[in-house]
Amino acid sequence: QEGYDFVVVSNRLPVERVVENGEATWRRSPGGLVAALSPVMASNDGAWVGWHGAADETLERFDHDVFHLAPVPLSAEEVEAYYEGFSNATLWPLYHDVIAPPEFHRAWWNVYRRVNRRFAEMTAEVAAPDATVWVQDYQLQLVPRMLRDLRPDLTIGFFNHIPFPPLEIFGQLPWRRAVLEGLSGADLIGFQRPGDAQNFQRCVRRFLDVPFRQGEARFGNGDAHWTVRAHAYPISIDAQAIQELAGRPEIKQRAREIRHELGDPETVYLGVDRLDYTKGIVHRIKAYGELLEDGKLTVGPSVLVQVANPSRERVESYVQLREQVEGLVGHINGQFDTISHTAVRYLHHGYPFEEMVALYLATDVMLVTSLRDGMNLVAKEYVAAKTDGSGTLLLSEFTGAAEQLKQAILVNPHDIDGLKDAMVRAKDMPAAEAKKRMRAMRRQVLGHDVQDWSEAFLRDLARTRATAAEAR
Ligand code: G6P
Repeated sequence: QEGYDFVVVSNRLPVERVVENGEATWRRSPGGLVAALSPVMASNDGAWVGWHGAADETLERFDHDVFHLAPVPLSAEEVEAYYEGFSNATLWPLYHDVIAPPEFHRAWWNVYRRVNRRFAEMTAEVAAPDATVWVQDYQLQLVPRMLRDLRPDLTIGFFNHIPFPPLEIFGQLPWRRAVLEGLSGADLIGFQRPGDAQNFQRCVRRFLDVPFRQGEARFGNGDAHWTVRAHAYPISIDAQAIQELAGRPEIKQRAREIRHELGDPETVYLGVDRLDYTKGIVHRIKAYGELLEDGKLTVGPSVLVQVANPSRERVESYVQLREQVEGLVGHINGQFDTISHTAVRYLHHGYPFEEMVALYLATDVMLVTSLRDGMNLVAKEYVAAKTDGSGTLLLSEFTGAAEQLKQAILVNPHDIDGLKDAMVRAKDMPAAEAKKRMRAMRRQVLGHDVQDWSEAFLRDLARTRATAAEAR
């Protein structure tokens, strides 16, 4: 019979459209998830269900690289209500501690449900009998249950890449029961931190009246009964690949060039983020500006490079953030730039990954100051790139990564004075201490890469299937 034994479902397909020699073609998307699942795809002959990124365009299934791709079409209205609206103006701010106020619109919710159903139906079509399906992230929380109703034979996993909020915050969502029921169609639900899994379990107990015991709960619907497990699986990066890139002579050469182009400063501070209000970009730049003001840092000997990848540019809170960041950068640069040197090098574009690794190598102090972050892979990438063991990492306590990178300089980004002290301390840290910390963090990251993450999740998912089969 037709169909694939392993199917990944995510909002975006793992490929991007590019133009090469005047011809439109596809390229594998950068990022850890795609890197992690590519080998699994190749060895299982798996399929990937997702949106191809353009509105009002229907594409046939096609193959690219190691992937069999099943594109899900979205109309322009659906992009607005499902992607920009419910996913990124309701769920995203709600799940990130309401840093921006979430908007609740019944019309968005209806479209979110409709689009989730379309993803579930497409998945039900491509999955072979008894296949394993792995659904990714907050855009698709209703898919597990819809899929279970369509195809009770499937083994279904779900991974939430962003935080799962505390009960008091999640409880604000008018559709809280429907979302919890949607997720609970999965056999195994993975979260970044144990705290996220606990939040989820508390919400299920309160709003669905189903108790969890040791991370397990029983669900039923008519004759169908199943066990849902909820656990933490902290995601990571392709550490080997980054380490290998960082060791290439041309990348090392590029890192030297970057420092030279920055005017050979004593200290390069770096921030790398999607331009998103969860990342604490304003807090970080503000702290930097105050250090210049206080005379604790000087333009020339110090520079702050901020790479801000354009993101979700049609969502209002992102438009506002951009104005705020660019206003602040303009203000600081106007006050502190010299004819030859810039205080804050602000770059509102994305770069090829090779250039990012060169930038990491050229950096003395990496600034990760998220107000809330499911994991934060930039922190782990920086550590993996620093093959010579130099450099310091300043890391927000409010990231998933802080639970693994305990030797970073941990900060509360809301505490601007604390942030300033930490930025100075990071610069002045004795080389021996910095090396010791970096060595410990490198051991952590190299010992727990994204391959280990996907294997651990899929191993546990396969076990749930085995226990379910025994029970039958
Ligand atoms: C976060 C989310 C992902 C998302 C990515 C980029 O990492 O967890 O699901 O794909 O941001 O955002 P975008 O809206 O461009 O897909």
